[in-house]
Amino acid sequence: MDYTVTKTKLGQRPDFKYPKPIFIEELGEEGLVKLFSDFYDLIVESDIGNFFPQEGEELEKIKAHNVKFFIEAAGGPKYYTQAVGHFDMLKTHEQFSITEKARREWLGCMEEVLRDVDISDEAKQSFWDFLEVFSKHTVNVDAGLELEDLVVKRG
Ligand code: HEM
Repeated sequence: MDYTVTKTKLGQRPDFKYPKPIFIEELGEEGLVKLFSDFYDLIVESDIGNFFPQEGEELEKIKAHNVKFFIEAAGGPKYYTQAVGHFDMLKTHEQFSITEKARREWLGCMEEVLRDVDISDEAKQSFWDFLEVFSKHTVNVDAGLELEDLVVKRG
């Protein structure tokens, strides 16, 4: 497995490939549900935990809802489309200030849970590659610029 993370260029929305069908074939829907439950448990404890609800019931709702998107993206039933309709990656995330560092933290949590999943490397790699590229669409703040702005504001 290669968990390399490449740098995001702010404003670029690189083309991505959806995971190969073997990913959901090997893991199953139940496996995906467990993967994302474990993932969000890690996320709330991470450096980006402040973005997500800490309260148990709210977090369970997020898990149950968001996994619909990932099941659909993996080629499973269109649960997310049925529940919400169209998904806009940029709009969904623009209400949060997401830096490259935050993206890396998100991917780091994903790496940790993926390491415990017992499926073929080919299946896992195709899911990782999808997330690694698609997650670049969420980055909407340049941390460098943020720092410069701070200096200017302080005068
Ligand atoms: C490939 C990567 C990612 C995908 C596919 C993805 C997908 C999603 C989806 C489907 C939702 C729910 C939208 C809805 O309410 O219907 C969501 C919400 C959210 N995402 Fe992402 N996301 C990704 C990466 C990230 C990253 C890197 C962050 C960094 C902080 C992030 C932060 C959030 C937050 C704070 C929410 C709102 C809470 C929630 O509903 O989970 N996401 N995302």
